[in-house]
Amino acid sequence: MCGIVAYVGGRRAFPILIKGLQRLEYRGYDSAGVGLINDKKIITYKQAGKVSDLLEFIGDSDTSGSIGIGHTRWATHGPPSQINSHPHSSSNSQFSLIHNGIIENYSSLKKVLEEKGHVFKSDTDSEVLMHLIEDVYNNGNDLVDDPKWDDDDDNTLFKAIRVALNEVVGAYAIVVLEEGNPNEFYAARKGSPLVIGIGNSEYFVASDASPIIEYTDKVIYLEDGEVAKLNKNQDVVIKTILNEDKSPYIQKLEQSLESIEKGGFDHFMLKEIFEQPKSITDTMRGRINPKTNDIILGGIKEFESQIVAAERIIIIACGTSWHAGLIGEYIIEDLARINVEVEYASEFRYKNPILTNKDIVIAISQSGETADTLSALEIAQEKGALTLGICNVVGSSITRVTSGGVYTHAGPEIGVASTKAFTAQVTVLSLIALRFCQLKKTVPRGNYNFLIKELIEIPKKIEKLLSLNKDIMKIAMVFKDASNFLYLGRGFNFPVALEGALKLKEISYIHAEGYPAAEMKHGPIALIDEEMPIVVIATRKENYEKIISNIQEVKARGGKLIAIVTEGDIEVKSIADYCIEIPKCFRELTPLINIIPLQLLSYHIALMRNCDVDQPRNLAKSVTVE
Ligand code: F6R
Repeated sequence: MCGIVAYVGGRRAFPILIKGLQRLEYRGYDSAGVGLINDKKIITYKQAGKVSDLLEFIGDSDTSGSIGIGHTRWATHGPPSQINSHPHSSSNSQFSLIHNGIIENYSSLKKVLEEKGHVFKSDTDSEVLMHLIEDVYNNGNDLVDDPKWDDDDDNTLFKAIRVALNEVVGAYAIVVLEEGNPNEFYAARKGSPLVIGIGNSEYFVASDASPIIEYTDKVIYLEDGEVAKLNKNQDVVIKTILNEDKSPYIQKLEQSLESIEKGGFDHFMLKEIFEQPKSITDTMRGRINPKTNDIILGGIKEFESQIVAAERIIIIACGTSWHAGLIGEYIIEDLARINVEVEYASEFRYKNPILTNKDIVIAISQSGETADTLSALEIAQEKGALTLGICNVVGSSITRVTSGGVYTHAGPEIGVASTKAFTAQVTVLSLIALRFCQLKKTVPRGNYNFLIKELIEIPKKIEKLLSLNKDIMKIAMVFKDASNFLYLGRGFNFPVALEGALKLKEISYIHAEGYPAAEMKHGPIALIDEEMPIVVIATRKENYEKIISNIQEVKARGGKLIAIVTEGDIEVKSIADYCIEIPKCFRELTPLINIIPLQLLSYHIALMRNCDVDQPRNLAKSVTVE
């Protein structure tokens, strides 16, 4: 989704903005722009395409100035074009705005503004917000009824932004520049993330910490409904849109610069796939007592008795996180014997769900900013359920609105296709299942200890599996031109089949379907012919004999079989066209390792098809719109 970066201070703003926009490229976008105050006037450059297209467009033009705003736009209202790109100017070019989010009531606001004589150049909701702020600035509260307007003596643009935002329905993170004011700008947020970095007489603003990290580790996460005035010669001033003063809460950023760089790999996705032994270790770190094998999950400890007594757990999530949730359903039900339902957040929010205060709702999200998941949580809270989160991004919105939760600690995930965040989510869900089977005594102690031992061994097994990268590349070469793929799995590995298919379609644009293997004969079998590659997860113990029957059905129709098997397997090997051998592992934990070759297969196929692996077309890393 859209990316925001802004700078005010003593340095040249332009290189900071461009580098920041490049760091935000992973979020997904289709146009880019910058606005600078140069000799007191605002200069704007914007262009459809990538940041590199913007740079080419700017060429040798003047980019001086030590204050500026930059934006990458992921098109919502209107196609990717120069005119729809940000920044957007006010009618008289006195102000310039960048915006991430969606102004849901933009068309009614636009109508009122048009009646007042405003003329719009773009199709965007963001330009409407710019004009609304301008109108309030020029005409006071004739559009907006704010009793505090007249007796407030702070800067007029600061006030106009606050008052205008009271009229807005929807989500926003904005930064606004004012002509003739090269020392300060304003930033505000509701529903879309925004971080302020504090340097030495300088401020940075960005959608996430990645553009800020190399300049400062002092940050403020702006809260919903807050507006900040950032003047390089003054301390931060924060007010709510209702004009209440807020004390800035300055935090230390825990990320490192290396964590957001490629570290010798060709792509972030490959780096993140290879990081999984470490990221899973980080997810487990400090959470398993080495002497007693007890699991400690500090963020949900105070709710343990409520979870034990719960009638059910409802997991809400989207995309890959939803697949992790499905694995959670299998493992929590199997080990802890708690009823689990897994819902697409986007469906849950509109289906009038039946919930009581005995239900536990767990939101799973890498970014912690997914709009559908956040809205579903709101509904769960309204209905009295306890809400918890499993998130990767520290300080993200979901972590702030839930009562408790467990961080995945996978480190920043930059590749749009989720890999290490998925295995970290599954690790957390396994820890939760193990913790509650221990509390509920649903698994004998001996078996529990074996499971813990196995979980601790997983990173080593993944390490071993990653050494098969070249073999997987060879399989990718054979199937890179396929038009369709079918992924089959059963039990714990049915969601792995779904996730394998999602990875392939996201980054290689090959149509792929995941299915529970036994369901194949109820429809998808009609698709199978000699052109159809079928990836089957056929590791031992997971309905192995049944899977072999499903494999025979595929072979009988000429399908090409790529099988994921347990090392030493003979039976499947004798039938399948290609096999990838997985280290032996307990059934409950196989998803953590079975997904690795599927991630690699997708990566290599996408690369061989010349696809942009890290920034696939049309996709955004953090989906902050409905
Ligand atoms: C797939 C992918 C998406 C996300 C989904 C949810 O590779 O990245 O399907 O999983 O958009 O995002 P989060 O987990 O940030 O809520």
